[in-house]
Amino acid sequence: MKIGVYSGSFDPITKGHEDIIRRAAKMTDKLVVAVLNNVNKRYLFSLEERTAMVLCSLKDLDNVEVKNFQGLLTDFMEENKIEFIIRGLRAVSDYEYELTMAFANSDISQGRVETIFMPAAKQYMYLSSSVVREIANYGGKLSDYLNEEVEKKIRDKIKIQGSR
Ligand code: PNS
Repeated sequence: MKIGVYSGSFDPITKGHEDIIRRAAKMTDKLVVAVLNNVNKRYLFSLEERTAMVLCSLKDLDNVEVKNFQGLLTDFMEENKIEFIIRGLRAVSDYEYELTMAFANSDISQGRVETIFMPAAKQYMYLSSSVVREIANYGGKLSDYLNEEVEKKIRDKIKIQGSR
């Protein structure tokens, strides 16, 4: 059984992430979407909120499983018998960082882990969760970037933060 992993912070999940996940799910027997819990990082959404939004966005996909992880991705992969990592590549600027990660993950797993790059869809080439958070902060249009439920969640979150 070919099991892949697509990992990220998903703060929040965007249509760009979703597009890669849906395309990758077609190529794998099982795709694990791994939501990172980095205790040293400040997120807009809690781990539970980020995970719930990922689950909600992918509920129609039978071969996708959503899990949390912390620490090294390669350790999580070994524990879950996952052989390869799927990464989306957007603009050229992603390339150097992604290549470094791919080499590091290959090295620390003694070559057991493979990374597969997929080009982001044209309309999501410059989309990122941080751009989405910035647009949301200023009340801009998000419907091209987020699905309806996620858009509602981020609007509510910004409202709560603004009222503090
Ligand atoms: O959405 P992000 O924050 O860009 O995702 C980054 C992620 C989760 C892919 C990456 O930070 C990660 O895998 N972190 C876990 C630690 C790790 O294994 N790093 C790679 C070895 S240097």
